[in-house]
Amino acid sequence: MTTTTLGVVMNGVTGRMGYRQHLVRSVLAINEQGGVPLSDGGRVLLDPVLVGRNEAKLADIAARHGLSRWTTDLDAALADPANVIYFDAQVTSARVPAVLRALDAGKHVYVEKPTAEKLEDARMLARRAQEAGVRSGVVQDKLFLPGLRKLKRLIDGGFFGRILSVRGEFGYWVFEGDWQPAQRPSWNYRAEDGGGIVLDMFPHWSYVMESLFGRVEAVTARAVTHIPVRWDENGQEYKATADDAAYGIFELEGGIIAQINSSWSVRVNRDELVEFQVDGTEGSAVAGLRGCKVQHRAMTPKPVWNPDLPAEYSFRDQWQEVPDNEPFDNGFKVQWEMFVRHILEDAPFPHDLASGARGVQLAELGLLSSAEGRRIEVPQL
Ligand SMILES: NC(=O)c1ccc[n+]([C@@H]2O[C@H](COP(=O)([O-])OP(=O)(O)OC[C@H]3O[C@@H](n4cnc5c(N)ncnc54)[C@H](O)[C@@H]3O)[C@@H](O)[C@H]2O)c1
Repeated sequence: MTTTTLGVVMNGVTGRMGYRQHLVRSVLAINEQGGVPLSDGGRVLLDPVLVGRNEAKLADIAARHGLSRWTTDLDAALADPANVIYFDAQVTSARVPAVLRALDAGKHVYVEKPTAEKLEDARMLARRAQEAGVRSGVVQDKLFLPGLRKLKRLIDGGFFGRILSVRGEFGYWVFEGDWQPAQRPSWNYRAEDGGGIVLDMFPHWSYVMESLFGRVEAVTARAVTHIPVRWDENGQEYKATADDAAYGIFELEGGIIAQINSSWSVRVNRDELVEFQVDGTEGSAVAGLRGCKVQHRAMTPKPVWNPDLPAEYSFRDQWQEVPDNEPFDNGFKVQWEMFVRHILEDAPFPHDLASGARGVQLAELGLLSSAEGRRIEVPQL
């Protein structure tokens, strides 16, 4: 059994996603488990070089995790032939130029979503990766959530009959930052810095809908800024110029209607921070991050509308939990392993930059729909 090592340039590891999900929970966790297992029994260890703008922060992370390689010089990291993959979890607005430099250096590229702020750039990156003959990937972590994996299992098993509709509810209250610190970085609330919930979440909804239910054929959305003033990481008041809630209707191939609310200005009265209810002719399901419950047509009670009487039973108790039936690993880590196998042994990996571009397209058209107050058809890319 052979063990090989792949150098990985990791840009943006001082950030929330780059540090926790990608460095700690994925790359370091993969090494701790002995590497990515390959089909021939071999193993692949990942050797990260941490890249960022702040030497002290990089040195601190490296020291904390016993890592020796870090630099503020992206081009130097890219020039090293031992580094085979470029990974980008920088703020969205910094993504495109950095990925282009990695492509010019002949690296395989794996990036956070959205792949760009504009469709034109997202498509250009996909095209450039193809021309360079390298492998590309975009993070599509929601597909690996236990709740959505169970939902996919139900779909594949024919549980729903004909799927009619999907209702998604995503969101929670993000504090304004004055009397309690905000739990998300302030750039998310400034359009000029690549923020906005449409650009943040529609790329997720794009691949979720496409993978589970069907391609999005039309979008009607209303994006709003409910909270116009917020306070940043330094306690400075700033104008929130980006949308913090979006109310979307998505028409999917096969006639399925999906409605998804996305909001950072909503208080949670749900079982999980995201939930999707799927209604089909044969049964319905509600899937969250981890859980998924179902109600089959034969088990559907007959509620009778009568506001004069209190509800006689708990509707929530009339659903059955879908069993796990398999272990669920961290979704970010699973996708890293898939990407490494995609590079080394041509394993399938549908989450490429072209798929990422469709996510940016949905965000762009969602914002257009909102600005112009109309339904927009989504051209097939
Ligand atoms: N897959 C997911 O579920 C998910 C969730 C949240 C964020 N994201 C994406 O991950 C990326 C990073 O988001 P985050 O929440 O970790 O952000 P963050 O602000 O915590 O981290 C941003 C990183 O980018 C670096 N950076 C580079 N250039 C910068 C600049 N000009 N200004 C500010 N920072 C700069 C920062 O140093 C930091 O390392 C975004 O593209 C975001 O859309 C994905």
